[in-house]
Amino acid sequence: MLTDYEKSCALQLEKLREKEDITILALESSCDETACAVTRGRKVLSSVIASQIEIHKRYGGVVPEIASRNHVMAISQITAQAIAEAGIKKEDIDCVAVTYGAGLLGALLIGVSFAKAFAYALGKPLIAVNHIRGHVAANYIADPDLKPPYICLIASGGHTAVIKVKDYEDIELLGSTQDDACGEAFDKVARVLGLEYPGGPQIQRLAKEGRPTVKLPTPLRNSGGYDFSYSGLKTAVINYVHTMEQKGEEFSKADVACSFQEKAVEIMTDAAVRAAKNHGLDTIVVAGGVAANERLREVMRQKAEEYGFRVCYPPLTLCTDNAAMIASEAYNLVRSGAEAADISLDASATVRITDVKPR
Ligand code: KG4
Ligand code: ZN
Repeated sequence: MLTDYEKSCALQLEKLREKEDITILALESSCDETACAVTRGRKVLSSVIASQIEIHKRYGGVVPEIASRNHVMAISQITAQAIAEAGIKKEDIDCVAVTYGAGLLGALLIGVSFAKAFAYALGKPLIAVNHIRGHVAANYIADPDLKPPYICLIASGGHTAVIKVKDYEDIELLGSTQDDACGEAFDKVARVLGLEYPGGPQIQRLAKEGRPTVKLPTPLRNSGGYDFSYSGLKTAVINYVHTMEQKGEEFSKADVACSFQEKAVEIMTDAAVRAAKNHGLDTIVVAGGVAANERLREVMRQKAEEYGFRVCYPPLTLCTDNAAMIASEAYNLVRSGAEAADISLDASATVRITDVKPR
């Protein structure tokens, strides 16, 4: 039997489906950013991000328990700030959205629990959002003209994949990493080079001072598919560094960073371009934290130009974790007729890119 709250949410969502300027308050707490955003349609009214990077840096990576505790401490204040900065009243919110997965379970649970209570207290529907799809949806904010179908390259700290976005909620997975995600490889290579967490921006900075002189493999090159292996690439870099150290030979860390970045970028961009060509699509979208990488953006643009493809990527603030992208995906879901999450919604550490709603 449906509760009065569930009946009311179903009715509200039916009406919202036809509304273009839906006001959404979204929450994100899957890793080390506590974020809240308010959007109206595709317009971002506010986007507040409390990053824990400085806290986790001293451990060389994210410590899950510490992340959860900091989410608890930040989430109420971040939400109040997002509402104030958006210049709205709580009553103006049409629906609440939250990342339910993928991510660190304890961290996700803070956002999910808070969002459930917040939506219930307001009497508004709650939309559960797949974090990976949120990264893709950041691009609808960046480029209001972007419409499916297109090829999307997702490269974040937890996922690396090439997908075909046939429609807003119809995604086909073409290929993905068989082991480490690309961002994870950036972080691990950075650690071996003695650089701080998160490694991506550090590698990018150091790579500018180097040249791609270290020969590295292209794992799965001849597989013909769109799968990646970033663990193979990472291991090759680590072996190179250890061998040089053991032999007591001098080597340039900048050259290692540059060689790794070049190869990492080559692998992803080749797969995305091949997918666009093979599927007859003329738009390539890049999403996820690694989409912030300048060299990736540059090479993707060059290769796309060669084939006459259009490339789209979010501004830097929308590449790494934020709540505006979660609101953007919630907007797609509401407009596609999604159901509200009920009060039993749980967080999920592993979620597939093809999952539209919690399993
Ligand atoms: O999407 P994201 O913020 O979190 C996940 O959902 O995983 O991605 C974080 C990842 C980290 O591994 C970080 O090193 C990487 O994105 N990253 C970068 C850059 N900025 C962040 N990688 C390469 N170049 C960058 N400029
Ligand atoms: Zn992310």
